[in-house]
Amino acid sequence: MKFRTVEPSYTSKDGCRLVWQGVDEDDADVVILNKEELAKLVEILKQNKTGEVELEDQTSFIRINSDVTQFSLTNHDLLEANTSEIQEQILEFAKVPHEPQYVYIGTKEFYPSVWIRDDSKQKEDAPKKTSKQSLIQAILSSEPEKLRQDLSPTDLFRVFATRRSTRKFDKTKVEDWKIDKILSAADVAPTAGNFQGFQVFLVKNKSAKEALVEAANKQPYVNAPVVLVFCTDPSRVNLKFPPDILEKFSLQDATIAAAFSLLAASGVGLSTIWIGMFDEEKVKKILGTDLRPSSILCIGYPDKKKSPKSRRKLKELIKVIE
Ligand SMILES: Cc1cc2nc3c(=O)[nH]c(=O)nc-3n(C[C@H](O)[C@H](O)[C@H](O)COP(=O)(O)O)c2cc1C
Repeated sequence: MKFRTVEPSYTSKDGCRLVWQGVDEDDADVVILNKEELAKLVEILKQNKTGEVELEDQTSFIRINSDVTQFSLTNHDLLEANTSEIQEQILEFAKVPHEPQYVYIGTKEFYPSVWIRDDSKQKEDAPKKTSKQSLIQAILSSEPEKLRQDLSPTDLFRVFATRRSTRKFDKTKVEDWKIDKILSAADVAPTAGNFQGFQVFLVKNKSAKEALVEAANKQPYVNAPVVLVFCTDPSRVNLKFPPDILEKFSLQDATIAAAFSLLAASGVGLSTIWIGMFDEEKVKKILGTDLRPSSILCIGYPDKKKSPKSRRKLKELIKVIE
C-alpha cells in the first residue's frame, strides 16, 4: 500500500480522506479524519515535530516520526506514509504555508542518524550524495567520506541505520501480523546444515513474564508486550561432528535467528531489547524445557523514538588483510 493523496471527505465535513493505493487499481485503503483529528495532525506537521494523534475511537492513533508516519487503526493493518510526503499534502490541503523538508538517512557506517535537511542545504550537500567512493575505499583511506543515500522506510539499510534498543515500551498492543513477521524471520534465518538447531518460546503468560524479570537479574523491561526466548537445540543438528561443535552450531543458529527477529521487529516499526544477562537454569524452569536459553528478545512499541548510538569507526572495527 502506497500513500497517494489527501482529499475532502464526504462523510466528515471539514475533515479529510487519506488514500492509500495497492498494486491493483481497485485495491485502496482510506483513513477518514474528522475536523479535530485533522487540526491536531496539521498542528504537529506545520511545526515539523514528531508526535501522536489519538483518533475518535481512542484506540487508533497516528504516530508522526521524523521519517515515517504510521496509522495504527483498530482491526486494521498498519498504514504508513513518508512523513515529508504526508506533511506536504496535508499542509497543502489545510492551506497552511510551509517549506518542504527532506529526510535523509545516512548509512550506519558513517552517520548512524536520521537528519532533516532543508531545500537550501540540499544543494550544498548534493555532491556528497553522489560520492563515488565505495565503503571499502573509505575504510582504507585515512579520512572516510560520508556516504549518503535515500532509503525507503522498509529498506534493510534503513532498519540497520535507525534501529535502537528500547528499555521502555509503551502499552500499545503489538499486532498479531507483526508477531507473525518476527517469528517467520527467525524461521528463514540460515542455520548449520539447515537443521534449525534452535527453538523459540513465545511467552504470553503474565506470571511467566514476571518470573523472567526475576531470572534476568530483575531487569523490569523483560516484562515486555512480546517476549521471545531463543534456545539452542543441538539434538536437531544432524551432522557428524563432536558434541562441542554441535553445541557451537546450535548457539550460532539461535543467535542469528534472534538477530533476524530483532531486525524484523525494527522493520515493522517496533523496538527491542536483547537480553543476554539471565540465569539459564531459572529460565529453563520457567519455560519447562531442558533446552539452553541463549537470548531473550523483548519487543514492543518504544515509549520514545531515540536516535541510534554511535559506534567506533569502521576503520577500527575492520582489519583488512591484503
Ligand atoms: C549479547 C547481548 C547481550 C545483551 N544483554 C543485555 C542485557 O542483559 N540487558 C540489557 O539491558 N541490554 C542488553 N543488551 C543490549 C545492549 O546493551 C545494546 O544493544 C547496546 O548498548 C547497544 O545499543 P543499541 O542496541 O541501542 O545500539 C545486550 C545486547 C547483546 C548483543
